[in-house]
Amino acid sequence: MRTQVLIVGAGPSGLLLGQLLHRAGIDTLILERQSGEHVLTRIRAGVLEPGTAELMDEAGVGARLRAEGLVHDGFALAIDGVRHRIDLRALTGGRSVLVYGQTEVTRDLMSARAEAGLPTLYDAAEVRIADFDTERPHAHCVVNGAAIRIDADFIAGCDGFHGVCRASVPADALRLFEKVYPFGWLGLLSDTPPVSDELIYGRHPRGFTLCSMRSPTRSRYYLQVPLTERVQHWSDDRFWEELRRRLDPEAADRLVTGPSLEKSIAPLRSFVAEPMRFGRLFLAGDAAHIVPPTGAKGLNLAASDVRYLSQALIEHYRERSQAGIDHYSSRCLSRVWKAERFSWWLTSLMHNVDQEPAFQARLQQAELDYVLGSEAALRVLAENYVGLPV
Ligand code: FAD
Ligand code: PHB
Repeated sequence: MRTQVLIVGAGPSGLLLGQLLHRAGIDTLILERQSGEHVLTRIRAGVLEPGTAELMDEAGVGARLRAEGLVHDGFALAIDGVRHRIDLRALTGGRSVLVYGQTEVTRDLMSARAEAGLPTLYDAAEVRIADFDTERPHAHCVVNGAAIRIDADFIAGCDGFHGVCRASVPADALRLFEKVYPFGWLGLLSDTPPVSDELIYGRHPRGFTLCSMRSPTRSRYYLQVPLTERVQHWSDDRFWEELRRRLDPEAADRLVTGPSLEKSIAPLRSFVAEPMRFGRLFLAGDAAHIVPPTGAKGLNLAASDVRYLSQALIEHYRERSQAGIDHYSSRCLSRVWKAERFSWWLTSLMHNVDQEPAFQARLQQAELDYVLGSEAALRVLAENYVGLPV
C-alpha cells in the first residue's frame, strides 16, 4: 500500500490531522492498534480552548461541538471551603472555553473520516516504522492475520505516550524531560446533574478535587489519591463520601450522587521529548509530551501540534516549501513548554503537598493568597487557561 502521509494512531491528534490534510487534497492512511469502539470508550479530557474549537471548525467538524458544547465563561478555585470565581471572559477580553468531551471530538472526527471514505486500519498489530531518516519511510503491521507494508512520503507519530513512533527513534537523538508526581487522579463519570454550572478546582487538606461535567445531566469528578491507590478499593459510595468531605458546604449540599459509568485512576506526569521531528517522522500530541490534567491542556496541545503539522505538510505539497517542516519542532516546543509550565504550576498550587517540607506548604499558601488578590496574577491564570496564541 502507498499513501502520502501515514498516520500512526487514531486518537484526536491522528484523526484531526487526517481530516485537515484530506481537506487540502492530501492522502492519508491511519493505522490504529485498537478497535474503533475501544478508542471511543476511553474517557479523558473535557475542556476545549477556543483555538481548538476553531481548528475543529476549519476541519469541517465543528457543527455538533458548536451546537452541544457548553460555553464556560469562568470556573471556580475552591480553597479550603471558600469558592473564588475566575471570570475568564472579563480577564481575557471576552474569551471563554468550551466543555465538550474528548470522546465526542473523536466521534465527530471518526464519522467525518468514514463519510469521506478515508482508510483507517483498526486492530493493526505489530506496527513498526522504518527508514524515516531517508526519502522512503515505510511501516509494517499485521491486520486480520495478513502482513502489510505501507510506503509513504511522511509518517506522523500520533500514537500517544506508549506508542511505537517515539520508541523507534534512536535514544541518542532524543532528549527526554520528565517529572512524575507522587499522586494520581481517581475519576468517576455519572449520569447525575453537575454540582455547579461551572467547573470547581478545589484544594483541601484531604486532597485536590475537580468537579467537571460533560453535559447538564452528566458529571465528571476527580479526587487526588496516592499513587498506591487501586480503583478496586473505591466503591461508588466511598467515592461520593470522600468527594462530599472535600467540597464546600453549599456544593456538598447540592451534590447528586448515582451509579458510576466509569471509574479509573490516572497517574500525573509532566514529560517532553525533544526534538519533535526526525527526518520524515513527526511526533504530535501525547507521543511527544504529557502534562498533568490540572490545566486541561493535553488535548489542546495535541490540537496545536496538529495545526502546525498540517500547515507544514500543506505548504510542502502546494509550494514545495521545506520551511514549515524545518520549523515544526521549534514552533511546537515553544508552545508546549509554556503549557508544561502552566500545568505544573497549577498542579503544585492546588494539590495537597503534605509530604513536602512545611516551608513549601507556606509558599503554596502565600502564592494562592497572592494569585487570588492580584488582578495581574488572575489575568495570567485566565490567559493560560483559555490558551496562549498559536
Ligand atoms: P491518544 O489519545 O493517546 O491517542 C493515541 C492513539 O494511538 C490511541 O488510539 C492508541 O490506541 C494508538 N496507538 C498507540 N500505540 C500504537 C501503535 N503501536 N500502533 C498504532 N496505534 C497505536 N487531558 C486533558 O486535557 N484533560 C483530562 O482530563 C485528561 N485526562 C486524561 C486521562 C488519561 C487516562 C490519559 C491517558 C490522558 C488524559 N488527558 C487529559 C490527556 C488527553 O487525553 C491527551 O492529551 C489526548 O488524548 C492526546 O491525544 P493523542 O491523539 O495525541 O493521543
Ligand atoms: C474533565 O472534564 O475531564 C476535565 C476538565 C478539566 C480538567 C481536567 C479534566 O482540568
